[in-house]
Amino acid sequence: MNHLDPIRHVRGESQYLDDVPEQHGTLYAAVVESPLAHGRLLAVDASAALLRPGVVRVILAADIPGTNQIGGIVPDEPLLAEGHVHFRGQPVALVLAESEHAAHAALAHVRVDVDPLPVLTDPRVAAAQGELLVPPRTFRIGDSAAAWAGCAHVFEGVAESGGQEHLYIETQGAYAFPTEMGGVRIISSTQGPTAVQRHTAHVLGLGMHQVEVDVTRLGGGFGGKEDQATPWGALAALGAFLTRRPVKLVLDRMADMRMTGKRHPYSSDFKIGLDADLKIVAYEATFYQNGGAAADLSPAVLERTLFHSTNTYFIPNVTATAYSCRTNLPPNTAFRGFGGPQGMFVIESALACAAEQLGVATTEIQRRNLLREGDLFPYRQPAELCHAEQAWDTAAQRFDLPARRREVDAFNQAHRWQKQGLAVMPICFGISFTKTAMNQARALVHIYTDGTVGVSTGAVEMGQGVNTKIAQVAARTLGIGLHRIKVESTNTTRVANTSPSAASATADLNGKATELACRALRERILRLASTELSLDYEGLHIENEQVLAAGKPADSTWEKLVSAAYWQRVSLSENAHYATPDLHFDATTNQGYPFAYHVYGTALTTVTVDCRRGTYTVDAVQIAHDFGQSINPQVDLGQIEGGTVQGIGWMTLEELVYNDEGRLLSNSLNAYKIPDLYSVPPVLDVHFLDTPGHPRAVLRSKAVGEPPLMYGIGTYFALRDAVRAFNPDSTISFSAPMTPEKVLVNLYPEFVGAGKAAAVARG
Ligand code: MTE
Ligand code: HPA
Ligand code: MOS
Repeated sequence: MNHLDPIRHVRGESQYLDDVPEQHGTLYAAVVESPLAHGRLLAVDASAALLRPGVVRVILAADIPGTNQIGGIVPDEPLLAEGHVHFRGQPVALVLAESEHAAHAALAHVRVDVDPLPVLTDPRVAAAQGELLVPPRTFRIGDSAAAWAGCAHVFEGVAESGGQEHLYIETQGAYAFPTEMGGVRIISSTQGPTAVQRHTAHVLGLGMHQVEVDVTRLGGGFGGKEDQATPWGALAALGAFLTRRPVKLVLDRMADMRMTGKRHPYSSDFKIGLDADLKIVAYEATFYQNGGAAADLSPAVLERTLFHSTNTYFIPNVTATAYSCRTNLPPNTAFRGFGGPQGMFVIESALACAAEQLGVATTEIQRRNLLREGDLFPYRQPAELCHAEQAWDTAAQRFDLPARRREVDAFNQAHRWQKQGLAVMPICFGISFTKTAMNQARALVHIYTDGTVGVSTGAVEMGQGVNTKIAQVAARTLGIGLHRIKVESTNTTRVANTSPSAASATADLNGKATELACRALRERILRLASTELSLDYEGLHIENEQVLAAGKPADSTWEKLVSAAYWQRVSLSENAHYATPDLHFDATTNQGYPFAYHVYGTALTTVTVDCRRGTYTVDAVQIAHDFGQSINPQVDLGQIEGGTVQGIGWMTLEELVYNDEGRLLSNSLNAYKIPDLYSVPPVLDVHFLDTPGHPRAVLRSKAVGEPPLMYGIGTYFALRDAVRAFNPDSTISFSAPMTPEKVLVNLYPEFVGAGKAAAVARG
């Protein structure tokens, strides 16, 4: 069973937003951006732009008929700047023209006068000035302050991780059409159709019933379109509403990179205490999240950092505090892992720091502290059906960790100018939206009279294969062939009030709703069969479209039953609702049971560093992963491979750089390097752990979207291991990404220091 889409993708047949046939009379939109990162917005003068050929209208904040507000969690973000500008690239005005070229050519003719104000880019500086997006949060278990005295070893340090550009292949965009009675219909490249609908309704001063949002598929989202597809949908809709013409708005790559938020960079402090047996007794961490100029999803991302601050280890005394800091960068947002990777990087840094200073292998400390069944996370949920040790031990045995270590050490003995490094990265990721109410979904299933089936849910296909999984759930539950199932576009008029496709929970939530709807339909149809065929209902099944009575073929098929149901006036449609059971979380005590379950796994990474150049290769990533009972091993394997490589990119190549004026310097693919085919480790093994899955996972097939990104963190520590093999005295800071430049500096810190001293001496 494969992913259903790729054949059409590679033939160019799949329809993305920009492939939608354009309607006659369409206007093209381009966005005027703030030229400065912070300042008072004195004036916006569009008169020169309006004289340009083809320009139809320039829309400003004052033209908004409803509320100029698109903040999702905190209402702190205008759609179009008003009064002040808070980041470079902030939308200030929308130019509408008869052609894309005319719209873009007019941008430079809109004058934006800004009186500059001081620019903040550093989260620690922002926190010191009290610039917080929301109040700080602390997760606490035990008493870390009292525990230090009882520790044999205590270590402290600083860890920093950089941002990450989503670089979905399809840039942000939307196409809006005016509808009858003053409404709008929007085709949007969004993970959150309901968010686009809700905010557009507010902006236009309409009821949500007047705004329809439709999504066919995304050319990638990775979290970047969970909340940040909304402005483009709302702007296109605003244009369509005001002109009564269709409006298409698609960002070009560089505009997308400048204007949209990314993974949050973090700067963090840690303190860790161990006993004489290397058991972790206490852990404290303080996280400074670079939130950007508006809250966006930062408070939720911050919370997930705290949820994952102890990764897959049991620690009895923990105090973890997180600050969401307001800076003058584009608002940072969801990105695969949603703050979890940032939290895990810090605890792994603390473990490496302790191991290096104690002169033991990090793996010694990691293995001794893995979660066991029933252990409490700092938020008090117990680890249930815990596979942390199984994942570690399977990886260590299957990929022969002791032999790998010996090989790396032997290689390093034999080579002066090349060094290898090794690291093990165990992961544990909680599955569910941490906002309990968001864990709900609906499915609308129609069986047509010929026996074919249409399924609508709130799930958005973005390459992760959720449509394939939903089709499988429907086919399996109804007992019919996959060819009969069509998964429809995601549309707010068919399935309402949806959560975004995010948190790795899309297949679980929407798949469970689909399962419920299909079960109800199956039951209805089998009841009819029982009457029609005078057979006992209890023994009836449908398998391969054949009706079975007590396991033996009966005289009916799926097609016959469906047709009979129609003529008997039995409903062939069903709308089911699913809400994950048992979840609760109190955001004041930071305790509860927020996750349906956890996903476990362990990766073993080996690298080779060229110690003359600082360049390196990731030689192997070998993973033992907990899929539960995968309903689609091919799709799931693709998620592990893609997620791991994306994580390696975050930890190695991808260096997001803003200058002190808040201008993005890594603003194109020349300056921002993402992994390519050559970055994929030549050995990328994935072993499917033998685990039962979880009853709260769809058909016991566990969520897979985000967890593998965190395997990439192992690459940072493997590189660190290699650098220390070359230069055991190197005092490498815990700072990711570990770019080749950084490797070189860490191989020869004395040289860099001398260079600096010489430069200072020269003045
Ligand atoms: N895989 C592909 N190909 N494209 C994507 O945009 N997004 C990731 C992950 N895998 C993404 C992807 C993110 S951030 C999430 S939360 C999940 O997929 C969302 O889908 P799921 O809930 O169906 O796993
Ligand atoms: N994960 C991903 N997206 C989200 C979450 C979450 O926990 N909460 C709100 N949006
Ligand atoms: Mo994924 S970051 O939850 O869209």
